[in-house]
Amino acid sequence: MDNISDATKGFVDLRRHMWMEGVEVDLRRLLWQIAVTGKYISAKIDESNRKLAGLKNIYGEDQLALDKSSDEILLNQLKFSGFVREYASEEQATIVPVGTGAEKYFVTADPLDGSSLVDTNLAIGTIIGIHDEPVLEGGRENMVAAMYITYGPLITMVYSAGKGTHEFVLNREGEYVLSEENIELKEKGSIYSIGGLRKDWTAEHTAYIEFLEKEGYKLRYSGGFVPDINQIMIKKGGVFTYPALKTAERGKLRLIFELQPMAFLMEQAGGMATDGNRDILSIKPESLDQRNPIYIGSRYEIEKAKEFLNT
Ligand code: F6P
Repeated sequence: MDNISDATKGFVDLRRHMWMEGVEVDLRRLLWQIAVTGKYISAKIDESNRKLAGLKNIYGEDQLALDKSSDEILLNQLKFSGFVREYASEEQATIVPVGTGAEKYFVTADPLDGSSLVDTNLAIGTIIGIHDEPVLEGGRENMVAAMYITYGPLITMVYSAGKGTHEFVLNREGEYVLSEENIELKEKGSIYSIGGLRKDWTAEHTAYIEFLEKEGYKLRYSGGFVPDINQIMIKKGGVFTYPALKTAERGKLRLIFELQPMAFLMEQAGGMATDGNRDILSIKPESLDQRNPIYIGSRYEIEKAKEFLNT
């Protein structure tokens, strides 16, 4: 689609944009329904939900009541969507069949990523992947769309249905309106965002980070994957990494729920995502909760990461 002028962007809502982009009709209905759940989830983020509820998720991590309710909201929405066969969520131990078995799409969700940041009032988010084959099949060719929603001072939503990556802002009338079409990362950025303790990094990863520091990259790390990726997306470059650690050689972040949807969105914006050797989207998951190291962002930094990790 021709780039829309700044003056008209505020009038292009999500449904109209997907229609203008020629996104397949069921996929655009599904994406719209998921974007709507972002409004319901954001409505749940209030004072009563800020504190840990003493709950643990299936991985033994602290869970807020908000994590659980975000998952329920999504699951309910998808159950009645008519387009979804299976729902795989970071909050569920197994894949949940939600349709009759004839539906086209398989959805992955991290319903509320970064919920440990809720009490500090930093931004948090929802991450969605949409596949047209069962999610454990993996593969770039089976992923048809991805989306994330950020709950910060503004609620923003970034989606791709394989035709570029686009940002929308939820306006006061409750509509997602286009704010940036076809986000295009520069070849090279100026920020880096790194997880894991320095004492646990490998020698290769340490050399890579020292290289970035010598080149003058600025540290930007909030501890929330969604806002940290969003920063690279909106600033048009830089790198986020949660590397392999001496104490956790697969890193921390989950391939299916977190890494592959973000890799899809980043690639569609002209960026890259690797675990050091393989493109994140080319990794076939061995299990639902698989973790992988990640280097994601603009091309220069990711190519450099591959060089340093393979010396
Ligand atoms: O997976 C949950 C998460 O909070 C991500 O959103 C974030 O990138 C990462 O963990 C932060 O981990 P750490 O607390 O080790 O920096």
